[in-house]
Amino acid sequence: MASTSSSRLAVFFLITVLLSVAAPGETKLPLKQIPGDYGLPFIGAINDRRSFFYNPGQEEFFKSKIQKYESTVIRTNMPPGPFIASNPKVIALLDGKSFPVLFDVSKVEKRDVLTGTYVPSTDLTGGYRVLAYLDPSESKHAKLKQVVYFLLKWSRDKVFPVFEACYTGLFETLEKQVAENGKSSFNPPSEQAAFNFLTQAFFGSNPADTKLGVEGPSLINKWLLFQLHPVLSLGLPEDLDDLLLHTYPFPAFPIQKDYKTLYDFFNESSGFAQDEAEKMGLSREEACHNLLFATCFNAFGGIKVFFPIMVKWIGRAGGKLHTELAHEIRSAIKSNGGNLSMAAMEQMPLMKSVVYEALRIEPAVPYQYGKAKRDLLIESHDAVYEVKEGEMLFGFQPFATRDPKIFERAEEFVPDRFKGEAGEKLLKYLLWSNGPETENTTVGNKQCAGKDFVVLLSRLFVAQLFQRYDTFEIELGKAQSGTAPAVIITSLKRASF
Ligand code: HEM
Repeated sequence: MASTSSSRLAVFFLITVLLSVAAPGETKLPLKQIPGDYGLPFIGAINDRRSFFYNPGQEEFFKSKIQKYESTVIRTNMPPGPFIASNPKVIALLDGKSFPVLFDVSKVEKRDVLTGTYVPSTDLTGGYRVLAYLDPSESKHAKLKQVVYFLLKWSRDKVFPVFEACYTGLFETLEKQVAENGKSSFNPPSEQAAFNFLTQAFFGSNPADTKLGVEGPSLINKWLLFQLHPVLSLGLPEDLDDLLLHTYPFPAFPIQKDYKTLYDFFNESSGFAQDEAEKMGLSREEACHNLLFATCFNAFGGIKVFFPIMVKWIGRAGGKLHTELAHEIRSAIKSNGGNLSMAAMEQMPLMKSVVYEALRIEPAVPYQYGKAKRDLLIESHDAVYEVKEGEMLFGFQPFATRDPKIFERAEEFVPDRFKGEAGEKLLKYLLWSNGPETENTTVGNKQCAGKDFVVLLSRLFVAQLFQRYDTFEIELGKAQSGTAPAVIITSLKRASF
């Protein structure tokens, strides 16, 4: 009797699997066990952590596992592991077909997974679980995301003039340093420009006119380190780097004074947005901690990493691309009455494609997580895998957006890849915002609230860059895991036509 019912169950399961795997006319993929192993308790996690950060490093770490197990869906540990994360076990999704399951909030839970297998203390965010850690099923998610949308809408008329002023300031600083020293580090003045821009566009408040002065970026960087140290490497000697950053969570008290300084600045500047939050039934204090987090972690943190990435890839592409961009950008501005406007940017297809290509080749936020809400089937290009409820899924985004089965010459920076009709068809595989570029951020999903805003800022940056310069040259400093590339500008040639 028992064996009849269990064989019925097995047949039922098989039929369910086949029905959900293969739509009519599609090839049927084989159902496979997810390969890979977690090693011995404790030791396996530490071995994987050291391989991930130091030898061979994250890209090779995943590549060697793909080769070893002949699969792009594998079981592995992810850092930090002991003693910061109690369970480092994940199922890694390492191709562009399996990765998007992480966007489906009916299948994955996005509660407390922003930073992966550990959660930074809420002492670092005023005692609140802020928006980015909330699953859309939690009632505050929609309200808090609405507040961010309100802020973005409120900033609309200020974006163009404020961006121009702040980034002209950046270019002047770079020029001065290159003239004086023969080179200039791009990252620190880029961070200053980003912070000045965000605070003035979002809150109409210039930090230079307040007690905060020019300290914003350095305070935020320290605060970010307290939250993200378990998944960063700072390029210190390996044993020291691992011991300091990946073994115990930093206590929150050394950063509390700095956080308070930031909080006071946001509290004084954001009254109008707190009014809006209050209308939605949120407390002013919770709203303010969320405004700080959205501006300093989400927006500043994203731009801090992505702008150097753009400059790195455009810089490396060389003079020929620079000349093409300068021609396209300047002639579009000319035919739009000499203004860098939205309409002018619509006539810059190469510039638009270059921004998308930078977002594709090196996603600024490379790790995404989600917990299976129920038993699931996940498809890669080659097979279907069964995942159990509660298992942690981890997507390594660079392998999704550099998947050779989706993108030709996937490892190359191809400036015009997203141009024209054929290019536009590829936008659904561009995933930098925690969702396809062809879909919209909503209160019901976990797609970046600033998705369209980021694309706009990146376009403005490239347009302003080639309005001002014919070409520029860069060098790269030593890259550190999980942080922005260190870009050094070595020459800037002012516009000659
Ligand atoms: C280059 C810059 C940026 C990048 C690369 C970026 C990327 C992302 C990613 C990958 C996520 C999802 C994280 C996850 O749940 O796994 C996210 C979420 C979010 N981003 Fe951005 N972002 C950027 C800029 C911005 C800006 C300018 C804002 C505007 C305030 C913003 C606001 C948010 C918010 C509020 C969330 C949480 C959304 C939610 O919980 O539903 N981001 N971002």
